[in-house]
Amino acid sequence: MASIKATVAVLTLLSACLLITNASGHHGCCRSYMTARIPFLKIKGYSVQTITETCHIHAIIFHTKKGKACMNPALNWVMQYIHRLGNKAQMVHNKTSKTQQ
Ligand SMILES: *[C@@H]1O[C@H](CO)[C@@H](O)[C@H](O)[C@H]1NC(C)=O
Repeated sequence: MASIKATVAVLTLLSACLLITNASGHHGCCRSYMTARIPFLKIKGYSVQTITETCHIHAIIFHTKKGKACMNPALNWVMQYIHRLGNKAQMVHNKTSKTQQ
């Protein structure tokens, strides 16, 4: 049992490292896109990378518990997730402002 737990821990660490390496290149920039789709519930937030002198691609960066994932802004599901995050924020805003009145 203990060795299974250790293996799971190592695998979790490894995949966290992979995510972080993928997300941050030399200047903390996304340099390529992840192709796998992330379950919406794993996403805690996002940031946007635009092309600059040091960052060479546009990207949406999803923040998860395990790290950051660089996504292609051209993908419809990526933008849908951002819309859903906005809805979620609106929902907590609505709930909070109700309890404060
Ligand atoms: C929040 O409230 C606004 C205005 O009352 C409403 O139009 C909107 O649908 C609500 N959004 C959510 C996510 O509950």
